[in-house]
Amino acid sequence: MSTALAEKNVSLTHTTDFLPLEGTDYVEFYVGNAKQAAHYYMSAFGFQALAYAGPETGCKEFASYAVRQNKLTFVLTTPLHPNNAMADHVYLHGDGVKVLALRVPDARSAWEETTRRGATSYQEPQVKTDAFGEAVISGIRTYGDTVHLFIERKNYQGAFLPGYRPWSNPYFAPNSTGLLYVDHCVGNVGWNQMNPWVKFYEEVMGFKNILSFDDEDISTEYSALMSKVMSSGNGFVKFPINEPAVGKKKSQVEEYLDFYRGEGVQHVALATDNIVETVRDLQSRGVEFLKVPTTYYDDLLDRVGPIDEDLEPLKELGILIDRDNEGYLLQLFSKPVEDRPTLFFEIIQRKGAKSFGKGNFKALFEAIEREQALRGNL
Ligand code: FE2
Repeated sequence: MSTALAEKNVSLTHTTDFLPLEGTDYVEFYVGNAKQAAHYYMSAFGFQALAYAGPETGCKEFASYAVRQNKLTFVLTTPLHPNNAMADHVYLHGDGVKVLALRVPDARSAWEETTRRGATSYQEPQVKTDAFGEAVISGIRTYGDTVHLFIERKNYQGAFLPGYRPWSNPYFAPNSTGLLYVDHCVGNVGWNQMNPWVKFYEEVMGFKNILSFDDEDISTEYSALMSKVMSSGNGFVKFPINEPAVGKKKSQVEEYLDFYRGEGVQHVALATDNIVETVRDLQSRGVEFLKVPTTYYDDLLDRVGPIDEDLEPLKELGILIDRDNEGYLLQLFSKPVEDRPTLFFEIIQRKGAKSFGKGNFKALFEAIEREQALRGNL
């Protein structure tokens, strides 16, 4: 195809959604010990065993466990040998998110449209089959060593994906904690890298910048960051992008970049429709959350107006509340789930609000700074 024709096609396809996304398909973590990590997400977060790939299924290089809760699928994968890309990833970054997999109606088209617009290919479209049908998978690189896989599974009826076999543990079937789906996934990028990645999501994936926060919005006495929220056209996939900003002390984003040894996923926000029950359950299973001072609740209702929930349990569990023009939201942030201060989770319940809790940023970041100071990294 001539360049002129290719450009014409690009401008033509801009009028329709050239990358229709049906939502997050799964989040895959590269970890040091997938068997134990899978057990942690089952016992602490309430996921159920779903599927397994490893030497017993003909996979000699890695072992991988898929766990599921409602529409959430996590995959925990570990290399079985050194001296390969997966082992290097774990060595460099520690446990972390490698793949944000997106469900698409057509994985070949998703790869062609995004690579034509400048994305670096991670995986050319590949058809994978087993007795349950076929799935088509392709992928592109995003910030750091993170990738997006495009998953086309309309002709696949198996538990997870070809290559995996159904997996369950007859002795252990933990109850759900009420976590439903991925609300958003946040990336931390380096100094002056937020806008180039915003441009990447706009140009390569057709996303829109729906919200921006500058360092005035997100600063405490000590540290600062900037953030822009990127959303797919239908709003099913949202990726806020953070970069550090100059403050008196080290930004939490810098601490992340130092310990993850580069750019990567900072947090994954998990939706619930009953945050009080979900957080109570998660805490009883040992998930640790950040705490804001109880003074946060003194003038809360003056700030956010009337809410449906009783204040006492929110205060007891440390749940944060914020309101925008469309409603309010309740949210809470876990401590990092690794020894390195890198990936953590957000638990979020939306009651109309489509924003991200700007009114909580200051209290939240002061709580993060107290943890940073304990680690000697502020
Ligand atoms: Fe968030």
